[in-house]
Amino acid sequence: MRRLALVTSIATVLAAAVCLAPPARGGAPPTLHDGLERLRADDAASPAAVAAATRLAKEFGTPLYVYDAATIRARAAELKAAFSSRFPKLKIHYAVKANTNLAILRILFHEGFAPEVISRGEILASLAAGAKESDVLFTSSSKNPAEIEMAVKGGAILNVDSREELEQIEAAAARLKRKARISFRINPGVDPHTIHQINTGISESKFGLHLEGGIAFSAYERAKALPHVEIVGAHCHIGSQITETEGYEATAKKMLAFAAELKEKLGITLGFIDLGGGIGIPYHDGETVMTPDDLAKALKPIWDEGVKAMGYEPALWIEPGRFLVAQSGFLVTRVNSIKKTPVKTFVNVDSGFNTLVRPAMYQAYHRIRLVGETGPLEKVDVAGDVCETVDILGADRMLPPAKDGDLMVILDAGAYGFSMASEYNSRPLPAEVLVDGDSVRVIRRRGTFDDLFRGEERARPARPAGGTAPKR
Ligand SMILES: Cc1ncc(COP(=O)(O)O)c(C=O)c1O
Repeated sequence: MRRLALVTSIATVLAAAVCLAPPARGGAPPTLHDGLERLRADDAASPAAVAAATRLAKEFGTPLYVYDAATIRARAAELKAAFSSRFPKLKIHYAVKANTNLAILRILFHEGFAPEVISRGEILASLAAGAKESDVLFTSSSKNPAEIEMAVKGGAILNVDSREELEQIEAAAARLKRKARISFRINPGVDPHTIHQINTGISESKFGLHLEGGIAFSAYERAKALPHVEIVGAHCHIGSQITETEGYEATAKKMLAFAAELKEKLGITLGFIDLGGGIGIPYHDGETVMTPDDLAKALKPIWDEGVKAMGYEPALWIEPGRFLVAQSGFLVTRVNSIKKTPVKTFVNVDSGFNTLVRPAMYQAYHRIRLVGETGPLEKVDVAGDVCETVDILGADRMLPPAKDGDLMVILDAGAYGFSMASEYNSRPLPAEVLVDGDSVRVIRRRGTFDDLFRGEERARPARPAGGTAPKR
């Protein structure tokens, strides 16, 4: 259902219309939000876009992650409207790994989402941002003993990923004299046709208990017999950046049929069926992809039919990450130099795969805008500052001629951007700022060179020569 469409021309006309429109809000100067929207609309030479990027870079330096609160709230509203109108028993978790900044978590928890987490650190981040521990859904496929203990003690729901882990949770709960709330992560064996590296519901993936061969069924049977676990649901997550409804439809059918089997053969009723995250976004200009409304509409008849067959209605749970935050994020970077080789032109910038790893790791495409420049487009590679051949943030991009000192803005960097950033090549982490209308504040200070060595041994301890005490 990917529709790379005539929408391009409509978008162009709309963008032009907005360009010709008078300044925002009856003559008021454009806000930072307006400037960010001009960048999105491929209007990076407009005064609003230039003013926004220049102000942000000047006040906070580069590379810089900028998030627009209005966009997060708009995506949250869109998601809730699509699903809550069709599924009265609904709970939406936010997959914290997409962006773990506490300020972002606070916005999303305030919007009513609960945390879906992968680690103890993500549990702590969620609690620090105001989530209730009993609202946490803990999904890692490899939980360590301390994580299991923390989740059981706090009353989180654990998505169990293997039979062995089930026994570990039972033992921990018995030791703690608790009853652990669990669901199993199911591997439904469905291919949602996304990038291989983020395709998680196929049979060969490491995630979940396979429906195939009765593996998931026998896990539920075993859990039912254990005194210290309470079965509360069934979970799956088939992948990320999914742009078509078909994979979800096939998964929903399988999960509902499985729930019916659990009821019929084991007398188990589920509090929820979680269909995971994965809702994709358009990363290219002019691209349209499945919307939450498309997805909810496609799932509704399947859900209703499954519920009828089961004879009861569990809650529908979903747990998107990317959809809620990706489009809110802009990575502002500065051009260091231009290098022409016999083969290519490289625009070298001051961020790299240490700042945004998705292009190098997944060959992901992010739109890149060159701020304030016009002129005949030329084909360039936007190259990162990491000393690795794969560190190309955008290959074969048609951009106006750039010069050193120019600003570039990489779009849709709000998900799996900062949360996957590293200090590789000993470069401190970028700062993160949050734009709300025309106000902007630092929500994570820029990393420092001191941060690079924190926790490391600073000086070699004096060693006694020949095993004797050091001379004084
Ligand atoms: C278990 C689980 N749930 C939800 C998500 C969120 O996926 P997305 O950000 O694509 O919505 C992920 C991401 O990989 C995940 O592993």
